[in-house]
Amino acid sequence: MKLQLNENFLRIKPSYLFSDVAKRVRAYAEAHPDKKILRLGIGDVTLPLAPTVIRAMHRATDEMADAATFRGYAPEYGYDFLREAVARHYASFGVGVAADDIFISDGAKSDLGNFVDLFADVPVLVPDPVYPVYVDSNLMAGRTVEYVEGNEQNGFLPSPAGLSETPRLIYLCSPNNPTGAVYSKEGLAEWVDFALKTGSLILYDSAYEAFIADGSPRSIYAVEGAEKCAVEFCSLSKTAGFTGTRCGWTVVPASLGDGALSPKKMWERRQATKFNGVPYVVQRAAEAALSDEGMAECMANIAYYKNNAALIADLLQKKGIPFTGGTASPYLWLKCPGGLGSWEFFDKLLCEAQVVGTPGAGFGLAGEGYFRLTAFGSHETTREAVDRLDKLL
Ligand code: MLT
Repeated sequence: MKLQLNENFLRIKPSYLFSDVAKRVRAYAEAHPDKKILRLGIGDVTLPLAPTVIRAMHRATDEMADAATFRGYAPEYGYDFLREAVARHYASFGVGVAADDIFISDGAKSDLGNFVDLFADVPVLVPDPVYPVYVDSNLMAGRTVEYVEGNEQNGFLPSPAGLSETPRLIYLCSPNNPTGAVYSKEGLAEWVDFALKTGSLILYDSAYEAFIADGSPRSIYAVEGAEKCAVEFCSLSKTAGFTGTRCGWTVVPASLGDGALSPKKMWERRQATKFNGVPYVVQRAAEAALSDEGMAECMANIAYYKNNAALIADLLQKKGIPFTGGTASPYLWLKCPGGLGSWEFFDKLLCEAQVVGTPGAGFGLAGEGYFRLTAFGSHETTREAVDRLDKLL
């Protein structure tokens, strides 16, 4: 081939963090077929879909089998029944979002990666450590990424204090992946004020919002003014166990601007061109997850994962290992004991206890020396991992 390729791909790591981890675990498993490996690495759920969701999927499947109720292409932005269900979900925790500003997607990751199509070569600001998708999507598109560090001093919740007033695309995630730290309303308001003052746009990832139970904001739109400076990405992956079912949404408020070059109009245009919608059966499943009955079942699953998180947190406390997260988040972010590097600690846990976690360095330079464990395993796996770590650490 003689075509010039996008050399920006040389700026990102050759393999995605979770593929890297999976490769190392596979190699270990092949070399040690007798060892039982406990996986607390990637944040993938283990409980099955809620009964209300399964019933809705069966009903929708039957509809697809009958010419009278069969559906072809879904509306590009999602069926009204689901856009309205999402708006009601926001209303259930006191946040007003218009159904027409909600775009149904196959999950937050795709939209977070795709949304950057709307922008020219603008400056980008991301917290470090951070979910790698924010950085990689922008590096692939040739943009320069600036970092704002999360660390023990700021509780892994960086603020805009001291930043220059350049307008930027600003990524925030709360409850945070990977640190599990959660912004208070005041903490988010600082970012909203900064974005409004500088003409920046916040890209807010709220995929873990359902883990919040202490009154912290579950949406950036809980902060006044956010509808003028923020887009929100959310997903049912963690709320309703949809990691394999795939459904989420993005809120692009009309109030961000009007005209052909406004984010909402552009996102409509982009999605209509490049996206064919989420399957009908999945949208009915998502609607069911957001119903009162479905949400009660989903919250019971979240309580189960939080129970796992508490087991891990108890162990870390007992061992005197500093950590964040684990209360309003499925993630526990711990400091590697003995001054070990993230990958060194990864190897130690894998080789000496057959427990898999995610090395903090994979989330950015500021993640070096830290390690992430997920509470999404089964109760039995978590219990056994905790017992093994109790003996090892
Ligand atoms: C994670 O482990 O960070 C998540 O599962 C990744 C994702 O949600 O894509």
